[in-house]
Amino acid sequence: MRLMLAPMEGVIDHTMRELLTSLGGVDRCVTEFVRVTERLLPARVFHRLCPELERGGTTPSGVPVYVQLLGGRAAVMAENAARAAELGAPGIDLNFGCPAKTVNRSDGGAILLREPQRVHEITAAVRAAVPAHIPVTVKTRLGFEDKTLFLEIADGIAAAGASELTVHARTKREGYRPPAHWEFIAEARQRVSLPIIANGEIWGVDDALRCRAVTGCDDLMLGRGVICRPDLPRLIAAADDCGDTVEPLGWQGITPLLLRFFEMTLREYDAHCAGNPLKQWLVYMRGYFPQAGPLFEQVKRLRAPDDIRAVLQRHQPVGRQARCAA
Ligand SMILES: Cc1cc2nc3c(=O)[nH]c(=O)nc-3n(C[C@H](O)[C@H](O)[C@H](O)COP(=O)(O)O)c2cc1C
Repeated sequence: MRLMLAPMEGVIDHTMRELLTSLGGVDRCVTEFVRVTERLLPARVFHRLCPELERGGTTPSGVPVYVQLLGGRAAVMAENAARAAELGAPGIDLNFGCPAKTVNRSDGGAILLREPQRVHEITAAVRAAVPAHIPVTVKTRLGFEDKTLFLEIADGIAAAGASELTVHARTKREGYRPPAHWEFIAEARQRVSLPIIANGEIWGVDDALRCRAVTGCDDLMLGRGVICRPDLPRLIAAADDCGDTVEPLGWQGITPLLLRFFEMTLREYDAHCAGNPLKQWLVYMRGYFPQAGPLFEQVKRLRAPDDIRAVLQRHQPVGRQARCAA
């Protein structure tokens, strides 16, 4: 089994990738999307979204980071994919799932699922432009309005020579509303021979096991579940390796991560907005750790890094508080 960290625009940037992959269990990551419209983008755009390119395309823990491209024009997608490959991307991932209105209005993301032939053409053009040893993966939903074209879309992606297909088991119209319709992934697996990675609504080890049983997929992609529970990949991987359980991180294990993440973002972003990723993370975490709610309330209006740090330090486990004070 392999576990992939899902792309999450505005949430999983290189700092979050570094932190999450350091906890173990993740086999691959994807960048936030490179929006491709009309032209070949300069190298700095790729380096900004994927600073890991400077270090062989992996996070400091050695986990590969594929560069995600989003766009509707085959030729220009192909040119940009070739550039990402030249810059050292270990793989290229194509986004056919983004539901954002602004993106869909300008011919990108899930809107393309209404035209399976174009999904095929874009994938084939990118595959042809990128050296054969570099994987080209595709991520899709089950359709735009409904699921009627899903198998045709999957066929076209396979015929285009994609290395792997990740399926977020919902249509664009279904948004992020549960449930995820994993049974459609099982159907696609019967039909196409390329490896399929199942995605959607995996929040715990039990969900992962059920998803694998329903879809028949070995590999899973995890998104919001990991943001709520950063050690989820490690827990799932352990359950798969030995059918065993490892001790999950409790809140005492989470607060040092929050402080570490805050210090990482402070190094990367302007001081006055460096607390924003932390605040966003706490909002996601409230879904699993009730303690994240009150902590969010304490930091939500703070802007000065020292004030935010002081609150985080007060929440550290006792031994650590003494070390922070020293
Ligand atoms: C805030 C947010 C941003 C996302 N950004 C992307 C993206 O850039 N590309 C993409 O293919 N999917 C994106 N997704 C979808 C996720 O990768 C994933 O398919 C979806 O969240 C379902 O998986 P989950 O239930 O494990 O979260 C995003 C989802 C969220 C919630």
